[in-house]
Amino acid sequence: MSADKYKKEAAMTALEFVKSGMVLGLGTGSTTKYLIEGLGKRLSSGEISGIKGIPTSSGTKEIAEKAGIPLTDFLSVSSIDLAIDGADESDHALNLIKGGGGALLYEKIVAGAAKNFIIIADESKYSKTLGEKWPVPLEVIRLAYPLVLDFIDKLGGKGILRCDDRGNPFSTDEGNYIIDANFGEIKDPARLEGALRSKPGIVETGLFIGMAKKLIISGPSGTKILYPQK
Ligand code: A5P
Repeated sequence: MSADKYKKEAAMTALEFVKSGMVLGLGTGSTTKYLIEGLGKRLSSGEISGIKGIPTSSGTKEIAEKAGIPLTDFLSVSSIDLAIDGADESDHALNLIKGGGGALLYEKIVAGAAKNFIIIADESKYSKTLGEKWPVPLEVIRLAYPLVLDFIDKLGGKGILRCDDRGNPFSTDEGNYIIDANFGEIKDPARLEGALRSKPGIVETGLFIGMAKKLIISGPSGTKILYPQK
């Protein structure tokens, strides 16, 4: 079975945690697309009702509108009952690397406002040590990006400015750049997060430390729900 099949299975399992009347954080990526479409079907069939979603990217907003999910924002609500999102990597503590789709800033704001934060993924996303498969995406102010590249070097990493298919710098929904910073295996993700956040010009990092409450992960041996372990 393909990763897509497993992504869908994880997304369908997460739908079981969605109850009528909830304000939901809607994540970004190919896994959450299944979730949002499934949610739309449950709403139109009347299985659940009164849901409102806060999207984490312009792409997700479009998918949610197409699926018929009523949307809201932080002018109307001050917290989220449940945020569901994908991830690029998760370790056993459910520390995450996110931002492969470039939406890490809104994703972290939404996750930070959520009472409950669930990650959905196929099992290729699970790593023994964070950073073994994926660099850490950083959202940076355009002006500062050369300074941030130097700073990453000084921390012992290697940063690359993310570009789109045409070779132009990728622009986030906030109009910032993304630097993909490779630190290899990250022994202490919280410490790295602190170091990165201390640098002016880095708006947000793709390290999500201690935020996820559950990881729903699917693979050939089925779907499992994992909780943060020490
Ligand atoms: C978006 O910026 C990311 O954080 C995604 O959540 C992450 O890249 C997972 O994407 P897929 O579900 O497409 O693998």
